[in-house]
Amino acid sequence: MSRSVYRRKCTHDAARLGNAVNDLCLTFSTWEGESRRAGTRSRYTHGLNGSAGAPPSQKVLVLVCLLIITGCDRLDMYDQPRYEPLEASQFFGDGLSARPPIEGTVARGALRDDISYFTGKEDGKLVAQIPQAAYRAIYDRNPQRFDKSYDDVEPATLRRALLERGQERFNIYCSVCHARTGDGDGMIVRRGFRPPPSYHIDRLRQAANGHFYDVITNGFGAMARYSSQIDVADRWAIVAYIRALQLCHNAQLDDVPADQRDGLIKLQSSDEPQDASSEDVP
Ligand code: HEC
Repeated sequence: MSRSVYRRKCTHDAARLGNAVNDLCLTFSTWEGESRRAGTRSRYTHGLNGSAGAPPSQKVLVLVCLLIITGCDRLDMYDQPRYEPLEASQFFGDGLSARPPIEGTVARGALRDDISYFTGKEDGKLVAQIPQAAYRAIYDRNPQRFDKSYDDVEPATLRRALLERGQERFNIYCSVCHARTGDGDGMIVRRGFRPPPSYHIDRLRQAANGHFYDVITNGFGAMARYSSQIDVADRWAIVAYIRALQLCHNAQLDDVPADQRDGLIKLQSSDEPQDASSEDVP
């Protein structure tokens, strides 16, 4: 619950409780045989000021009233004059209560001096490689997982971590349209959204890594930008994973390590006739 909502609710509740206690006081007074018309309220107030002669039940009620009033003292603290985020102000000429940062100031830790990492471009040209900072970021995300300092982790381990993260993020954010395979027939597309191109066409296979980063960051045609949902490190992880998808899709037997080729051939030959015969069954 936001503070202002809490504040309103507390004021409201206190008012309601106050009324309820007031009513109770009135009922008690009436029960004691006093006429309401004679002005019970003033008698009740009298009871508050000097209730020496009041019955014990009434004293308890007076105590409850006092507790409620003191219990809401914190309202004063919550109720300081201040602006809610994005609230308008008549004090400043532009009508905004929030002030823009002074031109040229950079928040601590927000200096984006690694241009190629943050923009996917170097001297205006799309970068070809995944920037080193992307690997550093995957390490920094969870250093315990690697159990050694960044400089001692094998590059292959870092690459694998980057790809795994990319796979996870890709399946969450992109596969709904681009499909888990990158073919471009994800579920939203099957339901009528404009189909994106397959990642496996020549133009995209030859595109620079920076192009994929740029598309995620700034959007592309009918595709919205994802910069507010996917941070810089994860965008690079997705780029790496798209590269892996492209590689797999166009892989040749020679790309498979020699000692695993036989197994793959066997798997392929045992799959094919079975698939064919199952399709033949009417
Ligand atoms: C809501 C559907 C949708 C989602 C989700 C989506 N895309 Fe797209 N994407 C598209 C469409 C549609 C196009 C084609 C846009 C056009 O040509 O106007 C496209 C195009 C692309 C292209 C090709 C650009 C080119 O050069 O032709 C890339 C690369 C791409 N998307 C990457 C991604 C990545 C990475 C993600 C996840 C972070 C993603 N997309 C999420 C719909 C989507």
